[in-house]
Amino acid sequence: MMTIEQVRMLIRPNILGLKPYSSARNEYGAQDAILLDANENPFEVWEQENMNRYPDPLQKRAKEKIARIKGIAPEQLFLGNGSDEAVDLIIRCFCEPATDSIAIFTPTYGMYAVCAEINNVRVNAFSLNSDFSIDTQYFLSKVSANVKVAFICNPNNPTGNTQKPEIIEQIIAGLKGIVVVDEAYIDFCPEKSVVNLLQSYPNLIVLQTFSKAWALAGARIGIAIANPAVIEILNKVKFPYNIGLPSLKTLDYALERPLAKDIYVHEILRERGRLIAELQEVQCVERIFPSDANFLLVKTTSADTVHKELLRKGIVVRNRSREPLCEGCLRITVGTPLENQELVDAIKAIRI
Ligand SMILES: Cc1ncc(COP(=O)(O)O)c(C=O)c1O
Repeated sequence: MMTIEQVRMLIRPNILGLKPYSSARNEYGAQDAILLDANENPFEVWEQENMNRYPDPLQKRAKEKIARIKGIAPEQLFLGNGSDEAVDLIIRCFCEPATDSIAIFTPTYGMYAVCAEINNVRVNAFSLNSDFSIDTQYFLSKVSANVKVAFICNPNNPTGNTQKPEIIEQIIAGLKGIVVVDEAYIDFCPEKSVVNLLQSYPNLIVLQTFSKAWALAGARIGIAIANPAVIEILNKVKFPYNIGLPSLKTLDYALERPLAKDIYVHEILRERGRLIAELQEVQCVERIFPSDANFLLVKTTSADTVHKELLRKGIVVRNRSREPLCEGCLRITVGTPLENQELVDAIKAIRI
């Protein structure tokens, strides 16, 4: 188990010593002041309130509301331009280019490796077991000391399964590095978030997003939940105004209506069940893997043919058949009832 001092030691020295950009409004607070500090256009030209002004760099109002909903403190929250921004910042804060590595459990979400490679950080890929579980003992015995960050996607994209909480805790307790648990799909999953583990483990960072269950993919808002000392570091490195005002306004509207999110999640889960039942009857479908997310990993007799035939009919699904352990597999997002019906009809008509 790491202490917060040990976590601080993991931060790249140049980042630890960085003096971040600071706006005058940030430094002095500016309730009802005359704002002549940021070279904005003083006129509200576009009839949308405050659109001529830079947005709040630390998104205080949004954080207070999110913190209340999640049962955490606002200081434990980072808001990013999608959770992808948090993935990139975490790698940049903790991994020295050309020296350090990240660990991933494959197959998994592609952006962890992409962000690492962009930053010239090596990727140590550990294969999931054939049932998509993590081999914790193997990982902890083999992981090298230069792995500064391990990413666990939970539920995992594209396999749709969830790791047992005790497996995740063993990795957080055993790794001398940061463990990121990406919970983009947690709202579709019966298992609880691992946020409660933050009380014991300062090396844990939980990622969540408003792009999935909250139906705000267009707003680009993701969150990192972590020890306040870790959040401070992410805030130091991010661009000052990383989330635009229209996105913050839309988020504010949605946060006042959490029940709407719950209703749509319920609807998606019902449709997921219906889709499984229908696809099971289809000739070219060999297997549907259990899913705790809003998509299904479906093994077909020929992924390339099914993928191509669906495209020809105007239906886009993800061909994951070249990913490890995913031979013959397509990843299919649960759509509206009408979209799902069209998918089922189209796939039924395919003769291989
Ligand atoms: C596991 C996982 N994490 C993160 C993301 C990206 O989320 P965001 O839209 O918040 O950047 C995705 C998107 O598909 C995802 O599957």
